[in-house]
Amino acid sequence: MSILDVKFVQGFIRLCNDGWQQGWHERNGGNLSYRMKDEEVEEVRPFLHEPGEWKEIGTSVPDLANEYFMVTGSGKYFRNVILDPEDSTCIIELDDKGENYRILWGLVNGGRPTSELPSHLMNHEVKKHKNENYRVIYHAHTTNTIALTFVLPLKDEVFTRELWEMATECPVVFPDGVGVVSWMVPGGRDIAIATSELMKKYDVAIWAHHGMFASGYDFDLTFGLMHTVEKSAEILVKVMSMSPTKLQTITPKNFRDLAVDFNVKLSEEFLYEK
Ligand code: 13P
Ligand code: ZN
Repeated sequence: MSILDVKFVQGFIRLCNDGWQQGWHERNGGNLSYRMKDEEVEEVRPFLHEPGEWKEIGTSVPDLANEYFMVTGSGKYFRNVILDPEDSTCIIELDDKGENYRILWGLVNGGRPTSELPSHLMNHEVKKHKNENYRVIYHAHTTNTIALTFVLPLKDEVFTRELWEMATECPVVFPDGVGVVSWMVPGGRDIAIATSELMKKYDVAIWAHHGMFASGYDFDLTFGLMHTVEKSAEILVKVMSMSPTKLQTITPKNFRDLAVDFNVKLSEEFLYEK
């Protein structure tokens, strides 16, 4: 038995490799974090080493105090995670204030958790408030979604509506819609605050000219959400490349009918007349 046999560790590694195979992780692009369950902490405890030094997170997440996370390393390549997870990822513990972290496993050749740790942890905190079941935060450099941030207005309602229109199952998969953050310097507290504000309302936040954050209960749901949004963006890029106008589409009335049959609530703010 090795830590690599533990189910959540396998799920973490598989998501990294799936994302790499989708082409969303050039070089060290993207990062992933998982908020561990108490029983999972106990399961891996025999494999943890003496704690490293306490280091500043760069923001404060008091409601995540003393929690454990598996996280990708800064500068690490998603394509290498499956080959050498102990080099590319780590397990960290937060202190009793939620202001510092220390490494308990992984990053055996040195390094630190992702530079987007403030965004990941602030998103986890918001999602945990909403629902204890949220455990995964995933950031990827999704090509088509990024492309759209150059041609669509950077408004939540426009991105939500345009993405919903591109595939009938979209409003069922992300009925709350998607949020958009205008261009900001990545890696810091400001973009973390802006993103976590959007995560109060949505499970998806798009970073203009950069990528996407998705959140979910488990690896399947979170990867599936990222995949669905990005596929919809790909269809929109193709449609816009063929023609500046659509001959037909899914209408606001169609969405309202879908909402009834699929038992989802679709906010009228996204069903505006164009
Ligand atoms: P890290 O290598 O620090 O995770 O950064 C990659 C990235 O995508 C930054 O937004
Ligand atoms: Zn990024």
